[in-house]
Amino acid sequence: MNTMQAIEKRRSIRKFTDKVISLEQINTLLKAAMLAPTARNCQEWEFVVVRERDILNKIKEAHPYAQMLATANCALIVCADTKREMAPGYWPGDCGAATQNILLAATELGLGSVWLGVYPNEERMKDIAAILHLPSNVKPFNVIALGYPDEEKEDVDRFDSHKVHYEKW
Ligand SMILES: Cc1cc2nc3c(=O)[nH]c(=O)nc-3n(C[C@H](O)[C@H](O)[C@H](O)COP(=O)(O)O)c2cc1C
Repeated sequence: MNTMQAIEKRRSIRKFTDKVISLEQINTLLKAAMLAPTARNCQEWEFVVVRERDILNKIKEAHPYAQMLATANCALIVCADTKREMAPGYWPGDCGAATQNILLAATELGLGSVWLGVYPNEERMKDIAAILHLPSNVKPFNVIALGYPDEEKEDVDRFDSHKVHYEKW
């Protein structure tokens, strides 16, 4: 699968089979994440891998739009260590780039994934930090639910020339 094929195939998957994702696959996703660009190359990200069902359930209960965690095989929580931030205010963008790399790498591995927003919702950030015992300088950016897909999505084409402006608006 080439890059454009992965971009076109990636969709939010919210139904998963009970097939287990291997540690090798998780490491591939994390390797992809850590190759993303970051402001001043500060790589302030941290990742929490959750595979235990009771922790997945706690996150599901803390997040209003995360019911798919009931069948997800694992979750990656993308975080930022704000102490390591070198360009203030850029950490959400850096974590977003890492997230998109994970979603695309998961697609290539035949895995389903969905990005569950946490930052900038303060209540969700507080709840997820408490569940995962994050130090106060480590901020949760999102939760990525992962598993083998148990649903198929139709292809979409969202290209809209009206949203493109050459040289000036
Ligand atoms: C910042 C952000 C937050 C999101 N939060 C959730 C969420 O809480 N729950 C969920 O099921 N999907 C969530 N999504 C997934 C979007 O609903 C999904 O990307 C969008 O509907 C487009 O569908 P697609 O991913 O299949 O292309 C989120 C996506 C982004 C980028």
